[in-house]
Amino acid sequence: MRNWWENAVVYQIYPKSFQDSNEDGIGDLQGIIQRLDYVKKLGIDAIWLNPIFISPQIDDGYDVANYDQIDPIFGTEADAEALLVEAHKRGIKVIFDFVMNHTSDQHPWFQEALKGPDNPYRDYYLWQKAADKQELPTNWASFFGGSVWEKEPNGSDYYFHLFAKEMPDLNWENPEVRQAIFAVACYWAEKGIDGWRLDAFIHLEKADFQQQLDLEPGKIGLAEEYYANLPKVHEYMHEFSQKLKAKYPEIFIVGEAASADLSLAQGYTDPAHVECDTVITFRYFPETTSQKDPRLPANFQPAPLDWTAFKEEMQQWQTKLGHERYPTLYWNNHDMARMVSRFGDEEHHRAASQKMLATLMYLQKGIPFLLFGEEIGMKNLLLDEQKLVYDSQEGAFYQNALMDGYSKEATLKMLNQTSKLASRGAMQWNEQAYSGFSTVQPWSGVNVEPIYNAAAQVADRESIFHYYKKLLALKHQRLFQKGKWTYVDFGKSFYSYRRSDSEGQALVICNITNSSHTIEVGFAITQKNVLLANEELNIKNAKTIELPAYGVIVLKQRG
Ligand code: GLC
Ligand code: CA
Repeated sequence: MRNWWENAVVYQIYPKSFQDSNEDGIGDLQGIIQRLDYVKKLGIDAIWLNPIFISPQIDDGYDVANYDQIDPIFGTEADAEALLVEAHKRGIKVIFDFVMNHTSDQHPWFQEALKGPDNPYRDYYLWQKAADKQELPTNWASFFGGSVWEKEPNGSDYYFHLFAKEMPDLNWENPEVRQAIFAVACYWAEKGIDGWRLDAFIHLEKADFQQQLDLEPGKIGLAEEYYANLPKVHEYMHEFSQKLKAKYPEIFIVGEAASADLSLAQGYTDPAHVECDTVITFRYFPETTSQKDPRLPANFQPAPLDWTAFKEEMQQWQTKLGHERYPTLYWNNHDMARMVSRFGDEEHHRAASQKMLATLMYLQKGIPFLLFGEEIGMKNLLLDEQKLVYDSQEGAFYQNALMDGYSKEATLKMLNQTSKLASRGAMQWNEQAYSGFSTVQPWSGVNVEPIYNAAAQVADRESIFHYYKKLLALKHQRLFQKGKWTYVDFGKSFYSYRRSDSEGQALVICNITNSSHTIEVGFAITQKNVLLANEELNIKNAKTIELPAYGVIVLKQRG
């Protein structure tokens, strides 16, 4: 049986930033419904929404206080049901985001657990006492800065949190927790959702908290060996997915496996041991790190993609995972900067580099995951000082960089190129006030630009939008879904591969540099065998072709 998602192109909608329908500056479900025709027109098969459940919004909805109810900022349960109906009417599947590793500290389970060690919900979370003569149970750091341990407000125990302190981790060893989480998954599957994106699932198992990192006293450090990709994650996932698929065989499960390397990803997606259908790894984008300042955290200092390492990485994923499964294909999401700003040439070749990068990635073997707005060439949101305070990591980096002698401008520029906040700017629908996202100031801020807004892009046949439409139509052909992927080495200025099956072949050639290069392909190039190109090309029926800066051409080859 062929699974629907094998041929799907997924469009990620950050609900807060897509379309505001009630003039409060926050995107909502009715707003998404209003824009479904646009999504359909682009050629999308499924939308993935970041969390829309009741939440204090400490982490923009990844801190869930009630999994069964829609947060009023997004709308009502009826709106969610209407969204499902309207999407399905248009043949669009809907994927929700499931935060299963932790809840909000406002979740009733945690509120109960705080009542003391005897409370039946105590064991839903992870508790420790401080180790002898130490302030904290372990010297492990959380992903959002600070320790993973926080002292309970009215007692002497510490609870564990991998992200913000308002997001306590669930205790997956407790079968009641697994049962409760499963019930949530079924609740929404029953309402008709078509898939789950499983947030941070690789962290479900933790070591037993008896381990300390080898650090100077008083210091803490990331301790992934004790809380990421531990063996029981496979067990938990298998139990969850197998039960869910038994009830809802068509449900698509895409796991967020940030630090998973190829071999872990192979394990998580092994069809013989039902866990995830595919995973999103953050390993695709190795950077050249030589120019980073060691005094400051590396992740907020921009660095160019290391193309040589990227090519090697992609070849591994494409050949070792892609030959029998479906890797995810993406350049950006809500946790990282936007692709054209990070990997393309936003200043001089914005449209060409956007189109080239999309082609490079999405015609490979796998499932494209687009981030809303990339189809119109949206760039990073310009951040201001005010925006940073609300997110502790960026705020801390800002303060530290200033102390290390960086100017405000230089620091903001670095953050602007690296912060996840830069990808969360409101969708640019038109060139009017607030880019047509809302009639009031958007929560996130918004870039207002000519050309790079949906209205202008849809009106212009040569736009990025129309190029994406053609690209996605091509992606829906059998060859680009099922065909074998082979890297073709044309040297360091190019990224190139062939897709082939019993019926034919296609060659995708991308100029990854900002200058023009001529390439010899080994067969005569005619207008007829050009499936797609992002720039005007001078086709001379010769075996060579000159590709301008960030030029891309997709050529059909016989047999
Ligand atoms: C995932 C989400 C991220 C969130 C974190 C904690 O990594 O993508 O946005 O902050 O999990 O839930
Ligand atoms: Ca709203």
